[in-house]
Amino acid sequence: MKKYSVTICGGGSTYTPDMLELLCVAQKKFPIRKVVLFDIDYQRQKTVNDYAEILFNEYCEGVEFFSTLDPKEAFEDMDFAFVQIRAGGMDLRNSDEKIPYTYDCIGQETCGPGGLSYGVRSVIEMKNLINSIRTYSPNSWIINYSNPAAIVAEMTKRVFPNDKRIINICDMPTQVLDTYLPLVNKKRSEIEPRYFGLNHYGWFTKIIDKKTGEDLLPEILKICVTEKERVHKLIDNMYDVTTHWGKTFEDHLDMIQDYPYSLPNTYNLYYLYPDRRYSHYDIKTTRYDEIIEGREKNVIMYCNAIKALGKMKGTQYDITDKVNAGLLEETGCSSTIAYNDVHATYLIELVISIIENGNDICLLMIQNNGIIPNLSSEMMLEVPCRVGSQFIEPLHIGPVSTFEKGLLENQFASESLLVDAVLENDKQKMLQAFTINRLVNDTERAKKIIAEFEKANGKFWPKLKG
Ligand code: NAD
Ligand code: G6P
Ligand code: MN
Repeated sequence: MKKYSVTICGGGSTYTPDMLELLCVAQKKFPIRKVVLFDIDYQRQKTVNDYAEILFNEYCEGVEFFSTLDPKEAFEDMDFAFVQIRAGGMDLRNSDEKIPYTYDCIGQETCGPGGLSYGVRSVIEMKNLINSIRTYSPNSWIINYSNPAAIVAEMTKRVFPNDKRIINICDMPTQVLDTYLPLVNKKRSEIEPRYFGLNHYGWFTKIIDKKTGEDLLPEILKICVTEKERVHKLIDNMYDVTTHWGKTFEDHLDMIQDYPYSLPNTYNLYYLYPDRRYSHYDIKTTRYDEIIEGREKNVIMYCNAIKALGKMKGTQYDITDKVNAGLLEETGCSSTIAYNDVHATYLIELVISIIENGNDICLLMIQNNGIIPNLSSEMMLEVPCRVGSQFIEPLHIGPVSTFEKGLLENQFASESLLVDAVLENDKQKMLQAFTINRLVNDTERAKKIIAEFEKANGKFWPKLKG
């Protein structure tokens, strides 16, 4: 059986430990011979590296493992790059989230003005990173989930138009499915989704039972509306409702009451309920602060604790049962530490479909080109695709309704103008990108926010002309 070589770009990411553990779990389906961590921050990556040496030594014997800051070492002899970089780091996530609050707008990692600011950095950094990967590895699969993935996908479509091995993907649709499928006693492997949208702005239109062909979505929506309290309790059991994702799924259930004909992405909340979302945070405390006190600290503590013990087996960190079970979905907990249960799983599922030529349905970003004929053909839609080892083929969706069409065209205008602005160094288009965004919506406000972002982003902000 062929064995594969994987490089994780953003090796110091808080998601890396879970990803590495899942690689150990997935050995029967995705055999690996080499794992490399690549980052630009030595210390972040070292923390993960020291834990990962123990992990691979104990659970994945024979796998070559190392960390590097050198692109040549990282990308030569590589089959898959998993890309999870945060351009500008957490400090600039903080600015993206806080600055908009000064101007009475929501600050969010990927939506609204914060997402556009992060988009500026990611367009530049991801373009450089992919060029660097392709210098040393012309044929590897580049699986990107660095955010804002919608904007990154718009960039990859333009800058690397003939590169069919760059895939942009997100975990949120999977997370939404895993949240609501228990209502009809189904697991993700038993269904096929039908879904459309831009990344972080989409809707499930069908959830098809693979065995019977029945569409389960009407039943799920009916339960959400007629038995709201029961579903609410289920959400309370799944998520900590005192923190971000718990509150988000509570709001999500409310959104279903208002639009009970499809199952929306959680991120639609930012555009459809901006006032309510705005009220979750203030200029002093945003999601950034929760992460710094939560996931960031926990991941560092986890890695350091294992390093101090020098082992996982026989300790409270032992994952032998998970590794022996070797089943992705059935382990039910891809995440040991980052507290994002689906995150690594959906990526490995995608890779397995590629290497097995499985032709499974995955929700990926791909150019519209008539998939939805009444939307711009240039849009990078997030839609179901059959994934094989040679082809990625999107399913045809057909025309969408006026409400969704209006929202998506507006968002696409904002995101594609932003990519224009960065690639062409065009100041006018930057102003247009921010002004047309539903969460900004005013030229004077856009100008002020852009000026502040320019200051905060420093060397990450392009020199714009005009
Ligand atoms: P993080 O800050 O903990 O980790 C990111 C790492 O990337 C850091 O170690 C940083 O040093 C490194 N990095 C930054 N620029 C780099 C570059 N040019 N080259 C190599 N490494 C670089 O962030 P995180 O919270 O773990 O998230 C990582 C990324 O994954 C973010 O972009 C986040 O938005 C994204 N993400 C996406 C999804 C999705 O569904 N699409 C889900 C989770 C996380
Ligand atoms: C979901 C989204 C990701 C996003 C993440 C943020 O998983 O799909 O795109 O990066 O949430 O979560 P955080 O816990 O960092 O706010
Ligand atoms: Mn996402």
